Amino acid sequence: MKHRKNNNLSIFVVVFSIFLFGVFMYNEDVKSIAEFPFSRPKASEIQEEQAKQVNNPVQESIKNLEGNSVSLSSRTPLGADEEDSSKTKEISDENEVKSVVIGVAEEKEEEEKIEMPVIEEDDEDVELPPEDCDLFTGEWVYDNETHPLYKEDECEFLTAQVTCMRNGRKDSMYQNWRWQPRDCNLPKYKPRLLLEKLRNKRLMFVGDSLNRNQWESMVCLVQSVVPPGRKSLNKTGSLSVFRIEDYNATVEFYWAPFLVQSNSDDPNMHSILNRIIMPESINKHGKNWKNVDYLVFNTYIWWMNTFTMKVLRGSFDRGDTEYDEIERPAAYKRVLTTWSKWVNRNVNPNKTTVFFSSMSPLHIKSLDWYNPDGIKCALETMPILNQSMYLNVGTDRRLYVIASNITSNMKVPVHFIDFTSLSEYRKDAHTSVYTIRQGKMLTPEQKADPATYADCIHWCLPGLPDTWNEFLYTRIIARS
Ligand SMILES: *[C@@H]1O[C@H](CO)[C@@H](O)[C@H](O)[C@H]1NC(C)=O
Ligand SMILES: *[C@@H]1O[C@H](CO)[C@@H](O)[C@H](O)[C@H]1NC(C)=O
Ligand SMILES: *[C@@H]1O[C@H](CO)[C@@H](O)[C@H](O)[C@H]1NC(C)=O
Ligand SMILES: *[C@@H]1O[C@H](CO)[C@@H](O)[C@H](O)[C@H]1NC(C)=O
Ligand SMILES: *[C@@H]1O[C@H](CO)[C@@H](O)[C@H](O)[C@H]1NC(C)=O
Ligand SMILES: *[C@@H]1O[C@H](CO)[C@@H](O)[C@H](O)[C@H]1NC(C)=O
Repeated sequence: MKHRKNNNLSIFVVVFSIFLFGVFMYNEDVKSIAEFPFSRPKASEIQEEQAKQVNNPVQESIKNLEGNSVSLSSRTPLGADEEDSSKTKEISDENEVKSVVIGVAEEKEEEEKIEMPVIEEDDEDVELPPEDCDLFTGEWVYDNETHPLYKEDECEFLTAQVTCMRNGRKDSMYQNWRWQPRDCNLPKYKPRLLLEKLRNKRLMFVGDSLNRNQWESMVCLVQSVVPPGRKSLNKTGSLSVFRIEDYNATVEFYWAPFLVQSNSDDPNMHSILNRIIMPESINKHGKNWKNVDYLVFNTYIWWMNTFTMKVLRGSFDRGDTEYDEIERPAAYKRVLTTWSKWVNRNVNPNKTTVFFSSMSPLHIKSLDWYNPDGIKCALETMPILNQSMYLNVGTDRRLYVIASNITSNMKVPVHFIDFTSLSEYRKDAHTSVYTIRQGKMLTPEQKADPATYADCIHWCLPGLPDTWNEFLYTRIIARS
């Protein structure tokens, strides 16, 4: 059921489109793929992967995944004379799933880690930016004194999906960029201050694998000052809970790639090519979000596989299978409208702070940033620093506009974390081939073939998602 909408090609222009898929896996996860219809053609592909693992023996284990991927590469008219494959298609499909595990880190007495840096918290107060300062307009500044905010090998909770250095990446500057807003400063990151704000509270990320990427970052941001045995990770079904005992605080992730009900909601088996949603059905997931103190939502990457979205007629529970196909923006608007009504009805703004993360961009086609010698994002070691350069990496801005508009017009205030543009500059920050696929580390042969295997959707950690969390941190510590 894909349609090919690009049937119109002019003779000189070639079009392609792409599809993709992703796959997913592991406990929750996702993978995705994307296609970029509008904008120029791109080759896309997919990737997937997932998994998790930890270095720490104890903890969790992981999972798996599967993947299917399809990639077509196409060519582009403009200027792209370089790409020659006229069309490549590859499909691999497999699914596997596996399961899950729970990891508890606690009690590992032998972990010797030296935690508790004594250094960190000085008593100086952190300076908050003015409430009306636009944090999202600014520039990337190389700052290896303050960034990364934690070290890859000091956060045992990172999964193998994101530990790029351990997975063989040689360059590390991608960890050293700090976002500098133009008109103010982000507050200095102090883990104990954040933990203090989270005391007796729950912070939950709800959404797809990019939000899971951000959740992993947040776990690492807070865990460094918590001694071994006083923190644990428990994955059960769609929910992963990182618990910090001494603060009675949790940092959680809930898998719901479309926010509303869909046939991709199984945290372990969601590699479904024929994705179907129920845009008006959210309570089944929403009941798990009630009374959480900080909610961070997102949904984007799963929308990018096809030009249209399949909307179920009826209900999965009744066994219905017929669906309509509607335009992506129309379906997205219905879903976010459903979500906004849920928030307005179920969230008490006196207790809960709500965030919505904007679109995490992909870097699939190096000509997007005028690098004719690139291979997707695989050879990139520097951000795009020239902001005068026109940049279009294929983000579906129609969805961005819908999300931005809906979140700004709600009864319950929602902080729209507008990191799309600043992330578009970070072509250097993806996991690329330094990741896993179907639960396994890429083989040397696969690593040598980034055109096929590089994941230019997810991000290394430490890395860009830490900056996304600096925006959350800024808002959370500002709340009294
Ligand atoms: C930071 O980078 C500068 C310039 O590359 C280098 O001289 C310095 O040693 C680095 N500092 C740290 C802490 O890595
Ligand atoms: C621990 O946190 C939970 C969830 O945030 C809260 O409901 C509970 O009251 C807290 N327990 C104590 C002893 O404060
Ligand atoms: C993980 O959480 C589930 C659901 O709350 C609970 O039943 C289970 O006992 C927990 N597992 C561990 C090891 O704490
Ligand atoms: C929130 O707090 C304000 C001021 O204390 C109060 O007037 C309002 O009723 C509260 N709203 C809810 C939903 O509890
Ligand atoms: C930045 O990009 C603009 C537009 O492409 C170009 O004119 C300018 O020379 C570039 N600046 C630098 C420093 O490369
Ligand atoms: C933004 O939302 C408002 C109210 O929800 C709606 O009336 C308006 O048409 C929307 N604008 C755009 C550009 O979507």
